[in-house]
Amino acid sequence: MILKDKIAVVTGVSKGIGESLCKQLLDKGSKVYGLGRNNFEAIHDNYSFIKTDVRNLKDVEQAFMQILNENGNCIDILVNNAGLGYFGNVEDLPIEQWDEMMQTNVNGMFYCTRSAVPAMKKNGIGHIINIASTAGLEGMPMVSGYCATKWAVKGFSESLWRELRDHKIKVACVYPGSVKTDFFRNSPNIKPHDYMLQPEDVAAMMVYALETPDNFHQVNLEVRPLQPKGPSK
Ligand SMILES: NC(=O)c1ccc[n+]([C@@H]2O[C@H](COP(=O)([O-])OP(=O)(O)OC[C@H]3O[C@@H](n4cnc5c(N)ncnc54)[C@H](OP(=O)(O)O)[C@@H]3O)[C@@H](O)[C@H]2O)c1
Repeated sequence: MILKDKIAVVTGVSKGIGESLCKQLLDKGSKVYGLGRNNFEAIHDNYSFIKTDVRNLKDVEQAFMQILNENGNCIDILVNNAGLGYFGNVEDLPIEQWDEMMQTNVNGMFYCTRSAVPAMKKNGIGHIINIASTAGLEGMPMVSGYCATKWAVKGFSESLWRELRDHKIKVACVYPGSVKTDFFRNSPNIKPHDYMLQPEDVAAMMVYALETPDNFHQVNLEVRPLQPKGPSK
């Protein structure tokens, strides 16, 4: 897809991977809508922020109604990026943290996707990218809740690409290992460091995927850091 003048929606834009992706899409000439509770410091003619908590169906529906109204019923790209993790032994994980992860990482993705797909189907063009995690490919002790949400992202994506491919809509699922962002703020023992993946590199991989030819569909994008603990001595 040629990204110039395409309508792109990215969720979770205040920092990290979402912020990097918005900036790179703007550099490519896309018209970008950032949906989130908070914005990054953005001043660009082609950028609009719509305050949206992706857990809130009304927020999401209103945001998509605005985007579709402003762009002749067109959305070309949706990146479901908003997400968060809490960690701990299963018996200690507060119900509120489980619910927040499920509502953000799973419900938010579903709400945004079902709001975007009708226009994509009608226009016969679309690319949806869901950000899972390597936690959506493996189980990890003390990460049960987060892993469960990302396995849900995987299951949703695996079904959706098969459902939408004949409508000329691509669905890709991204599985990054550790990325140097604020994501680890709730982790008791992991702090972000330079040997993690960089958010701008993960964003660049998605831009690459978005730019591939129409008949070239990258379904799963697993990416991990080399030497994740740093160079061996
Ligand atoms: N960092 C990693 O190691 C890693 C690895 C694999 C996958 N991921 C995934 O990558 C995605 C982006 O994470 P990140 O690393 O860039 O972390 P981040 O820096 O913490 O960014 C997360 C973004 O999601 C937004 N968000 C959270 N809850 C939201 C809600 N209810 N409604 C709207 N926006 C919400 C946050 O905005 P607020 O300002 O509103 O909080 C923030 O902009 C997440 O899905 C995460 O699970 C991260």
